[in-house]
Amino acid sequence: MRREKNGVAIAHCECVDSTNRILLENGKAPHLFTLVADRQTGGRGRMGRKYFSYEGGLYMSVAVSLEELNIPIHLCTPVASLAVFDSLTEVGCTDLKIKWVNDILRNGKKVCGILTECRTEENGMKNIVIGIGINLKEPIEGFPEEIKDKAGYADYNDDKMILAESIVRKIGDYIKLDSIELVNKYTENLAFLGQTVTVTDYSDGNRRFEAELLGVNNDCFMRIRLNDGSERLLSSGEILS
Ligand code: BTN
Repeated sequence: MRREKNGVAIAHCECVDSTNRILLENGKAPHLFTLVADRQTGGRGRMGRKYFSYEGGLYMSVAVSLEELNIPIHLCTPVASLAVFDSLTEVGCTDLKIKWVNDILRNGKKVCGILTECRTEENGMKNIVIGIGINLKEPIEGFPEEIKDKAGYADYNDDKMILAESIVRKIGDYIKLDSIELVNKYTENLAFLGQTVTVTDYSDGNRRFEAELLGVNNDCFMRIRLNDGSERLLSSGEILS
């Protein structure tokens, strides 16, 4: 099924392997074209992980055109985090925080993950796809053992297409913001701000250490203070807490 409303085209299907894979591998889609699935059999997560994509979630991928971006590509993930955060807040979901860089937590549990992927076509055109997975309801059979302590759900029971449309529209608006405005909005909702967290640094052999989370810089890199008092920026890593 495909619906077009005020310039936003959203296609909806029951089950695919990965909405990101489909949008990335099928040539350049129009700006903000969105594919929504009820389930995925090969949902892709960060760092090559699988993404648990059960019935009862929202799995969507949004095509973004480079020409429409006011911001650097690496800010697409923070943009999507904010769009999801604001859309869920608008439908009454409370106690949300953004966990750097791509997760939304509710009461400290992950309810949404975001994976931005980019592929360069033979003609040099870039396909940018923002993939978003949201746990809307509790899975009937519960979350799998390996994520059950960390996973939560938004408790959203209305039409998922309404939520998807709201997220796409906000992505369209936020990619036009200037980077500083965007980063300020992002920081306001950041989890663990001022707290000591355990961090994995992907750019340094996945080294793990403790640091104080100070915020993000204008590129949305994580700003941390190490135990020796020095400050550092992390562009690629993860907070483990
Ligand atoms: C993560 O938390 O590691 C990122 C998860 C991103 C999952 C979404 S679901 C829709 C889109 N299609 C995919 O295969 N992955 C993304």
